[in-house]
Amino acid sequence: MKEKIEALMQEVAALKAASRQEVEDARVRLLGKKGSITELFEEFRGVAPEMKREFGAKLNVLKNAATDRIAQLREEVENKAACADGGASGDLSMPGDPFELGSRHPVSIVRQEIVDIFRKFGYDVAEGPEIEDDWHVFEALNFPPEHPAREMQDTFFVSEGQLVGEGEEKHYWNPLLLRTHTSSVQVRTMERSQLPIRVICPGRVFRNEAISARAHCIFHQVEGLYIDEGVTFADMKQAILLFAREMFGPETQIRMRPSYFPFTEPSAEVDVSCNICGGKGCNICKGTGWLEILGCGMVDPNVLEASGIDSKKYSGFAFGMGIERIAMLKWQVKDLRNYFENDLRFLKEFNTVL
Ligand code: DAH
Repeated sequence: MKEKIEALMQEVAALKAASRQEVEDARVRLLGKKGSITELFEEFRGVAPEMKREFGAKLNVLKNAATDRIAQLREEVENKAACADGGASGDLSMPGDPFELGSRHPVSIVRQEIVDIFRKFGYDVAEGPEIEDDWHVFEALNFPPEHPAREMQDTFFVSEGQLVGEGEEKHYWNPLLLRTHTSSVQVRTMERSQLPIRVICPGRVFRNEAISARAHCIFHQVEGLYIDEGVTFADMKQAILLFAREMFGPETQIRMRPSYFPFTEPSAEVDVSCNICGGKGCNICKGTGWLEILGCGMVDPNVLEASGIDSKKYSGFAFGMGIERIAMLKWQVKDLRNYFENDLRFLKEFNTVL
């Protein structure tokens, strides 16, 4: 018995296999029901009691060595097979692992659509910082010092700004803040670009609002700016009409209502004919047939001059719209919070939109 165990020990150590079948054959030969190691265990029953201890221990060592070696060989041939078919799993009839495809966020989809439309009209994309200073968000845009938008209730301030002036005149100037609108990118563009300017500025903005279905402290806007010699209100109207038709369909009409913004004069708010009811009146347009989509106007000469542009020679128009607002009109998702909660059940509804 001793010799048999030693011979099998050597066989196990020298065991080789080139395929799964060969590994299986070796297992059956050694450890199968009629395998040589199994047979030795049978033989062991007849061993004299005083030898049982010694042979029992040896047999167990042999069995463990055979089991380990076979497991090792099996892993080797599996690995080889996986490498040979390029890492694909061995069983080609198995269904593939599903790939969870992500989807684009509705805000990104609309942002891209708006940018693509204006790119076709020859606009470049410009960006600016989200942490801005008072100059670019308010001062250079002709906001009077006491304008309510500058208040703490609306604006998130980051720093107090610099102490300037002497004695009675001493005050803080140009605090850092989170931009409340993308109109700040107008100013940055005017400061650094050569004329004419034709840009579209998408970005995230921040306002200190309580979060509800209708208001959020973070949202997205797209700003547009066109400055050249002889730009008129009629050019603005045409650009906005073309945009509205690309965005909401070729039958879309627009109307302009007089409005006020510190940085434009004259200013207007633009409505598009309701794309749900075609202007007849429905609950989306609250029976009016019109939906408000953006604010616009002719850039105020003070704004041009603040950025070093000669307002006698140049004129321009600007407009700004909320991306979530356009997304709401497109998909009738009315609760603004949906756009920020990243609930997969909501986001997955957009995975067919490219
Ligand atoms: N900045 C404005 C806002 O946040 C939107 C806007 C209105 C931008 C009129 C413009 C404009 O450029 O001309 O409400």
